[in-house]
Amino acid sequence: MKRITLHYLQKLKEKGEKITCLTAYDASFAHVLDQAGIEILLVGDSLGMTVQGHDSTLPVTIENMVYHSQAVSRGSQRAFLIADMPFMSYTTPEQALQNAACLMQVGQVHMVKLEGGRWLIETIQRLTQCGIPVCGHLGLTPQSVHQLGGYRVQGRSISAAEQLRHDALALQGAGISLLVLECIPTQLAKELTQELSIPTIGIGAGKECDGQVLVLYDLLGITREKIPSFAKNFLQETDSIENAIIYFIREVKEGSFPSAEYSFS
Ligand code: KIV
Repeated sequence: MKRITLHYLQKLKEKGEKITCLTAYDASFAHVLDQAGIEILLVGDSLGMTVQGHDSTLPVTIENMVYHSQAVSRGSQRAFLIADMPFMSYTTPEQALQNAACLMQVGQVHMVKLEGGRWLIETIQRLTQCGIPVCGHLGLTPQSVHQLGGYRVQGRSISAAEQLRHDALALQGAGISLLVLECIPTQLAKELTQELSIPTIGIGAGKECDGQVLVLYDLLGITREKIPSFAKNFLQETDSIENAIIYFIREVKEGSFPSAEYSFS
């Protein structure tokens, strides 16, 4: 089975074919998602909440991320693998380089994801110069939950939307190859997706992004609290995990997920 590459994902954007991405934290689920045809597996630091039971992603360590990345890597043969750099693991370019190298060499992922805007330019340049592909993450950045004042929709005012646009273009200029947009209005995500040459992957960002990502446990309705309003429990419509994932792929590819019900205006 041939491994999906960044080049392939870029081609999907150019062809207008939607990209599918789900979080994975262990080998068994990685195998199921891989077999179903998910193109990107994200070892998200959301594992701090879904697996470890914390109320935010802040306690997650680089050791945790490496451990789960190794498991996901062992379980998958085809998907492109991204791992989150956890909170406080990329405060300087050199610290980021050391930790990203660990995720790539020991965790065996293909790309790292960093949350934040222009302050990351030097870090992104350093990582990409060393051959480490970088995914950006803008909008609702959960590692900044306390600074943002909670898990809230971002980019709603004209000035906030402008800041986001500047950040997105600056990150692309610095060298990111993918951009996650979380919890922003559909129209803003649409404009950013059109302005950027790299693929955008949305979560709570409407259906105009180049691809969609969900936290796997939300898609399966496994949560201690209410699932976020932008997430859909696909297992409710069927009787197997495999089918729930296939329904997610189908609805993303045909552009019916996320509908307005799962989006913000
Ligand atoms: O950690 C995570 O699961 C994420 C997604 C929500 C995009 O960053």
